[in-house]
Amino acid sequence: MADKIRIGVLISGRGSNMLALAEHRRRDPDRPYEIALVAANVPDARGLVVARRLGLKTWALSHKGMDRADFDAKLDAALRDHDIELIALAGYMRLLSPGFVARWAGRILNIHPSLLPLHKGLDTHRRAILAGDDFAGCSVHVVTEDLDSGPVIAQARVKILPRDDPDSLAARVLEAEHRLYPQALEDYALALREGSTSAGP
Ligand code: GRF
Repeated sequence: MADKIRIGVLISGRGSNMLALAEHRRRDPDRPYEIALVAANVPDARGLVVARRLGLKTWALSHKGMDRADFDAKLDAALRDHDIELIALAGYMRLLSPGFVARWAGRILNIHPSLLPLHKGLDTHRRAILAGDDFAGCSVHVVTEDLDSGPVIAQARVKILPRDDPDSLAARVLEAEHRLYPQALEDYALALREGSTSAGP
């Protein structure tokens, strides 16, 4: 296995978490991972522009009009072409097919803006406020077939303030995401490199 774990980051939008992962690596080249590909299912995703500016390799294909399994087979081929070892979902707004998840078992991480298992799916901040939760937050988890349900490997809590609306809360949670995801990815990549997780594509 190469010295650095080769990461494929999957995005659909602005890519601020992708940027946080890239910056974390840039600040210390000794980190155990490198971002070898940024892939998107939305060819005009803003995050692709950011990735290209950083000098990262990008791949994009619109999923529109495509069968999910066909799209995922093309995505899988692109990831393998770039010798990707670990996938980091970062605002990738598309469900992965069961076949894809099975092929990459234990090799896909996701960041979700809630304290899982609370508030899976979309609109998490509004739901946390409406539920009267004291804390919101974010979770990094291993991706399994069921949405936002795989083992949580890292979590950060963010206090919900009385004046919060979903946007103000989302902004504070996003800052927490940018701190949490790079460290969680680094720890997971290190464990993979040292063979202390049994996962393998
Ligand atoms: C983040 O809040 C992430 O938790 C969720 O989608 C959002 C993506 O934001 N899965 P960005 O594209 O990383 O800026």
